[in-house]
Amino acid sequence: MNRVRIKDKTFEVSAPEAEIKQRVKELASQLSHDLQGKKPLFLAVLNGSFIFAADLMREMTIPCEISFVKLASYQGTTSTGKIHEVIGINEDLTGRTVVIVEDIVESGLTMQRMIETLGTRNPESVRICTLFFKPSKLKADITLDYVAFRIPDDFIVGYGLDYDGLGRELKDVYTLVPPINNKMKNIVIFGAPGSGKGTQSDKLIEKYGLNHISTGDVLRAEIKKGSELGKTAQQFIDNGQLIPDDLMVSILASVYDSFGREHQGVIFDGFPRTIPQAEALKQMLSERGDQVAAMIELDVPEDELMKRLLLRGQLSGRADDNEETIKKRLVVYHSQTQPLIEWYSQEGLHHHIDGLGELDRIFDDICQVVDAL
Ligand code: AP5
Ligand code: MG
Repeated sequence: MNRVRIKDKTFEVSAPEAEIKQRVKELASQLSHDLQGKKPLFLAVLNGSFIFAADLMREMTIPCEISFVKLASYQGTTSTGKIHEVIGINEDLTGRTVVIVEDIVESGLTMQRMIETLGTRNPESVRICTLFFKPSKLKADITLDYVAFRIPDDFIVGYGLDYDGLGRELKDVYTLVPPINNKMKNIVIFGAPGSGKGTQSDKLIEKYGLNHISTGDVLRAEIKKGSELGKTAQQFIDNGQLIPDDLMVSILASVYDSFGREHQGVIFDGFPRTIPQAEALKQMLSERGDQVAAMIELDVPEDELMKRLLLRGQLSGRADDNEETIKKRLVVYHSQTQPLIEWYSQEGLHHHIDGLGELDRIFDDICQVVDAL
């Protein structure tokens, strides 16, 4: 079960049960080693830490005790706003080694408050052990002695942590999936060299006001500028080969982000060209709450592709529009790019268009797909 739905939100597994178990075991072994002979008292902060505390305790290899505390919050009169009061400490803490067990530390203000409160009861030492820690949110000046996972500032649920009281029973930990932006029409326009991707993209931009990323154009612009990227790209393009995936993916994300968040959608022309690129595109978009709405394949027979590109070569000045390089580009297309048709079919996004014939008829067929999105 990779995804769960709780109330109105969707969550995706981010820390699987086995990984959590492993980290809890490692923390317990470190604690058992560090606190040998101390008979530590664990103070688990309810509710979120109850599962973590139970598992941690069972992995300890030295004698230890556990007690549960709660934080009651009330509106303070000072500028600090909400004040947290620790309730439920019934033990005598004098001379004890105390380990606060927390499920998640964000600003750290609660932990700071706990340390202050516990400090008045003369323990020998107070340490903090937390399952999750969001370093980017930390405000308090505290030391976290034991941390199982450092995580980004995402909302998480499961293994004791809840969303509106629900989800604590989940064995894995899940991260909130940002809602999909349905207004955005991100379209992959796909096809062999010369199939008409660029030509049809121009018409789509005009009709639908979409943004356009042509990775081929981006690379040619870099070559013209004489940039480092351009120099690398040139060798590959001249040989009819693809630029390495990692390089392409990093370029793509920065161009996509340059459109801001309010755009109508983007036409991806010439990207993706390999399965790793398609996976990276999916990941990049999903991290932003976006998705590909359709992959439109322009299907054109090979003899026609060759004819078109040789004709364009007479005018375009494109270094790769010569017979020898076109042949190589077509081989690369068949071996590395064509498998994406099956990949996008599996995703339920593939649309086949007959790319041979009148420009306007082809465009009408594409518009039918886009209008239905
Ligand atoms: P890129 O620039 O994307 O080239 P390509 O995929 O080979 O495709 P083209 O731009 O040549 O053709 P097109 O489908 O856009 O067709 P067009 O509309 O121009 O990539 C170039 C290189 O960059 C790659 O080889 C690779 O090295 C590198 N690269 C790019 N992206 C990459 C990535 N993601 N990863 C790794 N490397 C990457 O039409 C062609 C001609 O036909 C035109 O003259 C047009 O007027 C004509 N035409 C169009 N439609 C019709 C029609 N219906 N009837 C008659 N003529 C037509
Ligand atoms: Mg093109």
